[in-house]
Amino acid sequence: MSTVPAPGAGYLQIRDVVKDFGGFKAVNNVSLEIAKGEIFALLGSSGCGKSTLLRMLAGFETPTSGQIILDGRNLADLPPYERPMNMMFQSYALFPHLTVWDNIAFGLRREGLPKDVVASRVEAMLKLVQLGKFAQRKPHQLSGGQQQRVALARSLAKQPLLLLLDEPLGALDKKLREQTQIELVNIIEQVGVTCVMVTHDQEEAMTMASRIAVMSEGRFLQVGAPGDIYETPATRFVADFIGNVNLMEGVLAVDEPGHVIIDCADCRHYVGHGITGTEGMSVTVALRPEKIHLTRQKPADEFNSAAGTIKEMSYFGSFTVYHVQLRSGAMLKISQANVQRHREDELTWGDEVWAHWSRSAHIVLTS
Ligand SMILES: Nc1ncnc2c1ncn2[C@@H]1O[C@H](COP(=O)(O)OP(=O)(O)O)[C@@H](O)[C@H]1O
Ligand SMILES: [Mg+2]
Repeated sequence: MSTVPAPGAGYLQIRDVVKDFGGFKAVNNVSLEIAKGEIFALLGSSGCGKSTLLRMLAGFETPTSGQIILDGRNLADLPPYERPMNMMFQSYALFPHLTVWDNIAFGLRREGLPKDVVASRVEAMLKLVQLGKFAQRKPHQLSGGQQQRVALARSLAKQPLLLLLDEPLGALDKKLREQTQIELVNIIEQVGVTCVMVTHDQEEAMTMASRIAVMSEGRFLQVGAPGDIYETPATRFVADFIGNVNLMEGVLAVDEPGHVIIDCADCRHYVGHGITGTEGMSVTVALRPEKIHLTRQKPADEFNSAAGTIKEMSYFGSFTVYHVQLRSGAMLKISQANVQRHREDELTWGDEVWAHWSRSAHIVLTS
C-alpha cells in the first residue's frame, strides 16, 4: 500500500532506508526529505554508498528495509516502467549512430508517443539546452559539454518527476566542468524538476545544490545548505572533508555567557559565541585558511593570534596560501587574496609573522 505523506511533508521522502549486500550495509539507515524543485547533492568519497542510494531512488535496487515515497506514492508499489524518474550517468551513453535529434526522441518514441508530440518535445528540449543548430549532428561531432547537454535533454524530454544524476560531469575537464555546472543548474531550474545528484567533488556539490548530504560509510553525517555545511560543520570529519581547514586541539578554559576562551598550545582563542560544554573539556578549534590574516606586526589583541615562521608559499593567482609554522611546531594554512599586483614589503619564505583572526572566525567542534 502506498503511504500518504503527512501534510507539508517532503516531495521525496527517504525513510529509514537500508541496503544490505550480504551483511555489508552500503546504505545504513538514512532518512531525508527533499522539497519539490530542489537540487540536492549526495556528497562523499568513493564507496560511501551514494550510487547505491541513487539506484534505489531510480528503482534499480530495492531497499532491504525502509521506504521511498515520491509525490505521495511509495516506489515499491510501482512497476519500473511506471516510475516517474530518469537517471543520467557519467558515461552519458548517447547512441553514436543517431543524430542529436534522434537521441533526444529515442525514449519518447519507445513510449509510443504520437509523432507530433515527440517532435514538439524534442524541439522544446533542443531550445532549452541551446543545441537547436546541432540537431542533425552525431554525438562525436559535439564537444563533451554539448554531449552532456544532449544527455540532459534526453533525460528531461520524458518529463520525469525526479531527475537523478550520477557524477554527471565526471568526464569533463575542470574548466568545462565549472561552466557546465552552471548551465545544468540553469536548465534544471528552468524546467523546475526535482533533482538528486551524486558527486564526490565538493565544489560541484556547493556550486550546484541547494542542499547537500555529506555521506560516509552509508550514513548521513550532515545535511544542510552549502554555506551552512562550510561555515558550521557539525563534526571534525565534515569540517575536514569540506574545504580546507586548520584544526587545533585545545581545552575549554572559560565558559561565560556569550563567549568562551579556549587554550591551545600556540594561542588563546576568544570565541565570541557560546558552546555546549563544560570547563576543562577537550575541544577542537577549526579555522578556515581564508579567515586568518598575516601581518609582520604583533596584533594588539592578546587573544586570537599566534606567532610563526613562513615555511612554504603556494601562488594560485588570485590568492596565495602560506604555510606558517607556529612555536609548537604545528602548521597553519593561511590563504590571502592577492588584491594588489605588487606589494611593498611582500611576505616571503623564512619571514617571522603573526597570524590573527576575528572573534567570529572559529568553529568549535566537540565531536
Ligand atoms: N551490487 C553490489 N553488491 C555488493 N556490494 C556492492 C554492490 N553495489 C555496491 N556495493 C558496495 O557498496 C559500497 C557503496 O558503493 P557505491 O554506492 O557504489 O559507492 P559510491 O557511489 O559512493 O562510490 C561499496 O563498498 C561497494 O563495493
Ligand atoms: Mg558512485
